[in-house]
Amino acid sequence: MTIDRYGVMGYPISHSRSPVIHRLFALQTGQAMQYELLQVAPDKLEAAIRQFQRTGGKGLNITVPHKAEVAKLVDHLSERASTAGAVNTVTFKDGEMYGENTDGIGLLRDLDVNLGIDLEGSSILILGAGGATRGIVGPILEMQPRSLRIANRTLPKAEELVERFGSIGAISACSFNVVPVSTPYDLIINATSAGLHGEAPPYPEAAVSEKTFCYDLSYGLNPTPFSIWARERGAAKSVMGWGMLVEQAAESFRIWRGIRPDTAPVLKQMHINA
Ligand code: ATR
Repeated sequence: MTIDRYGVMGYPISHSRSPVIHRLFALQTGQAMQYELLQVAPDKLEAAIRQFQRTGGKGLNITVPHKAEVAKLVDHLSERASTAGAVNTVTFKDGEMYGENTDGIGLLRDLDVNLGIDLEGSSILILGAGGATRGIVGPILEMQPRSLRIANRTLPKAEELVERFGSIGAISACSFNVVPVSTPYDLIINATSAGLHGEAPPYPEAAVSEKTFCYDLSYGLNPTPFSIWARERGAAKSVMGWGMLVEQAAESFRIWRGIRPDTAPVLKQMHINA
């Protein structure tokens, strides 16, 4: 029996939980596959992907900092990946490379199915306007929130996203430290990389009430600075992005293997401390 090869490419990559998650999915669904951790520096990215393809690899997950670059390398880009300008899932088929982005769908599934949050008609604030934000704005707007505001330290980057996604729904931009608040937001998503660098920017305090749900796209064994801040501000709930991680992986797995694993038992096995 041949074992199909998959992997995740990033730089650095040692912290990635994707191999554990995909091994659990494979076990659960009885799929014969292996999943490798592939540390690849940016200047070696294209060569590494081509080699993986040449040696019979079936698919790759792509993570920081390669997602935007891979969107330029693939032969076919899905609409979602094209809108996001980023690829996190590559499939190799008949000598061609297909790029998809499952990050947005992973977040929506976590919010909707796992956490029971209805985005329709809600007011949402996203902190940060980098690659992580670009991957989630389109799918969020499709859920028809009442408003989506993007706050960023560098205002022009938030304004660029408003230009890019303005035709889909009600979206606006502001700078990070002057978030307008008439009523507190229903949902605040931290999509900055500040916590990863051990930085704690001045998150907008007035944006949180006891009805606000706070979601950090980052995750860790210990609560992230944003999730601690949200809890201290009295948010209704404050969670880290473990659920999104497992759900985006499940969507990649479905694309590759044609079967969607049950995420609940896998999510339970991850460490969730928020
Ligand atoms: P990612 O792909 O993780 O989104 P990125 O594209 O480098 O990474 O974007 C990082 C985001 O975190 C940006 O919105 C960045 O703000 P700037 O556009 O102003 O750089 C934000 N960020 C990082 N460190 C921050 C800090 N200390 N305070 C506020 N925002 C920060």
